[in-house]
Amino acid sequence: MLDWSEPAAPVRQMPPPLVAQTTVAADQTGLGAIDRRGGRVSVDDKRMINCRADVNQLLPLKYKWAWEKYLAGCNNHWMPTEVSMQADIALWKSRDGLTEDERRAIKRNLGFFAASESLVANNIVLAIYRHLTNPECRQYLLRQSFEEAVHTHTFQYIVESLGLDEGELFNMYREVPSITDKAAWALKHTQHLDDPDFSTGTPEADQAFLRDLVAFYVIFEGMWFYTGFAQILSLGRRNKMVGIAEQYQYILRDESIHLNFGIDVINQIKIENPHLWTKAFQDEVRAMVREAAELEAAYGRDTMPRGFLGLNAALCESYMHFIANRRCAQLGLPRVFDETENPFPWMSEAMDLKKEKNFFETRVIEYQNGGALSWE
Ligand SMILES: [Fe+2]
Ligand SMILES: [Fe+2]
Repeated sequence: MLDWSEPAAPVRQMPPPLVAQTTVAADQTGLGAIDRRGGRVSVDDKRMINCRADVNQLLPLKYKWAWEKYLAGCNNHWMPTEVSMQADIALWKSRDGLTEDERRAIKRNLGFFAASESLVANNIVLAIYRHLTNPECRQYLLRQSFEEAVHTHTFQYIVESLGLDEGELFNMYREVPSITDKAAWALKHTQHLDDPDFSTGTPEADQAFLRDLVAFYVIFEGMWFYTGFAQILSLGRRNKMVGIAEQYQYILRDESIHLNFGIDVINQIKIENPHLWTKAFQDEVRAMVREAAELEAAYGRDTMPRGFLGLNAALCESYMHFIANRRCAQLGLPRVFDETENPFPWMSEAMDLKKEKNFFETRVIEYQNGGALSWE
């Protein structure tokens, strides 16, 4: 029997850990010189961070969870322009269809998300991607980056459809203090990763990278987005702004995978680098989660000074405490707030689009047969 496969080079001898740090740094990007004498990559060579195996080779897969999330993201493909905005336009332009409180909450909500999607995308592309040295995780990051672009597109489409002031909406993250405080808090964790001289490989730098993952995946996408989803989906449940509510359902479905990817990445880095997950660092992560919940409570008071449609700042704050405790549990950390009931149990149903066929009287497209996904 003939075998046409290329003969494998001898198994690669990995350099000892303290040798050639500069070579390792170049290899981690995938843009370094090709190692013509290197052996083929084996699964055991693969690592989440500080990996010396070739990052340009997707196969053999080591982290199947990352590949499965990539497939799930592709199965969920949607575009904002597929959602009709007719009912939203009529309601927004009507004189008394919405209260002033509802209008303020909608605009601030859109303003928060409009720039946040870009902040998250920039963090993936400019800070996370080059330090996450695993090709299947990078494959997911590429898909996620596109999804963040689709989400930003959603806010452009909403602004255009409703005839909103684009300067007002897209500048809220600079001009509305409770939104600026959140963006500035997250950005301080990403800024030094963007420094061309930053590289992982020391415990301090690796912890800085973990801090950025916590700030963006667990807190920005995993906590702050959830109050925003609750506000708009609450309107949708009452048949208001149903087009935006449908778009938020699709964003929520995407974000739920982003969050779970981030949690898996952090937990896998912990397994491979237990020396990073010190008691002091765990305390720091819990303090970050607590501080983020307080920033969100301030945003809730600013966005909903009087409350509307069964939502108010106090309920949103207890929802944030519930979510914060849940995120700590997902990272294997003790909770940071007293045990809290979920004040919005309908949110978990809103995440399951298969049940939503008659939920909104708009066209719901099922891109996904649902079997591959499990929801938090
Ligand atoms: Fe997003
Ligand atoms: Fe996201």
